[in-house]
Amino acid sequence: MKDVETFRREAVERIRAAVPGNAIVAASGGIDSTAAAVLTQEALGTRARAIFIDTGLLRAGEVEASRELFESCDLKVEVLPAASTFLSALAGVTDPEEKRRRIGAAFVRLFETEAERSGTHVLVQGTIAPDWIESGGALRDTIKTHHNVGGIPRDSTLTLVEPLRDLYKDEVRALARHLGISKPGRQPFPGPGLAVRVAGPVTAERVEIVRVANAIVEEEIDRGVQEGKLSQPWQYFAVLLPVHSVGVTGDNRVYGEAVSIRVVDSVDAMTATAAPVPEEVLRRMAERITRTLSGKVTRVLYDLTDKPPATIEWE
Ligand code: XMP
Repeated sequence: MKDVETFRREAVERIRAAVPGNAIVAASGGIDSTAAAVLTQEALGTRARAIFIDTGLLRAGEVEASRELFESCDLKVEVLPAASTFLSALAGVTDPEEKRRRIGAAFVRLFETEAERSGTHVLVQGTIAPDWIESGGALRDTIKTHHNVGGIPRDSTLTLVEPLRDLYKDEVRALARHLGISKPGRQPFPGPGLAVRVAGPVTAERVEIVRVANAIVEEEIDRGVQEGKLSQPWQYFAVLLPVHSVGVTGDNRVYGEAVSIRVVDSVDAMTATAAPVPEEVLRRMAERITRTLSGKVTRVLYDLTDKPPATIEWE
């Protein structure tokens, strides 16, 4: 990227040239799509309609945090509740790529309906370079189908406009700062949401377990950082594993779920290292997760794998 101001001006011009009429904008609450939405609002004004879909697969407090983020950069965004649509689309699916395709398709169908209501076919997305590189192209293997790329069905009526598709994460962060987006340091969160952090079947109950465990991991890492026990990691979250294990609560045997804690350092998400987390912080997370989710989670593990050979997310 040249300097950020030049990028902003040129991106606004490109959006104006690409969109003669109305457009809808996919706003996920992440910095990529928020930056794309701010540029689009600047380019098109009221011809752009930004939409945030509440998939029911979001982190605790995410809808509220996203609203605050949008308000902080004067972005007008509509919230569309759609949890039941996504849970039905995922019923019985365990294959990670199939989950991503189903979620992508559900997003696209909802956006097609909303685009039709706005009299347009144009959907602006915050796709960035690692999304499409990892989703595979003519010369690359598919590592994962990022939902905002590979999940678009062939018969979709939407025309995509992707103003950030040549940027890497650190460049988007610089752009977001420049655009006045108030939480540019916020950790990334995958478009398919908690569904790719629930290995195995995705049910409302399993999503809720990982949501609670994830909130504990975030709180304890944030606390550890504030207390100077570790430096700010790139990304930290909980994953629900597709295994059960025997535990004991009081006098009772419990055959419960297992949660893995993932904490990584990275610069651009293309590679990552498992971050060193003090044992005291890890133990507090394990204790809180098993206590808060007593009878449901009987085991907590810590993932020590770098990327490569692993990826940051489990699915
Ligand atoms: P992986 O798991 O591929 O993740 O090492 C690299 C970075 O991308 C995030 N991620 C996604 N972001 N849509 C997104 O917008 C997706 O489908 C997606 N999958 C992974 C992941 O959280 C990490 O920061």
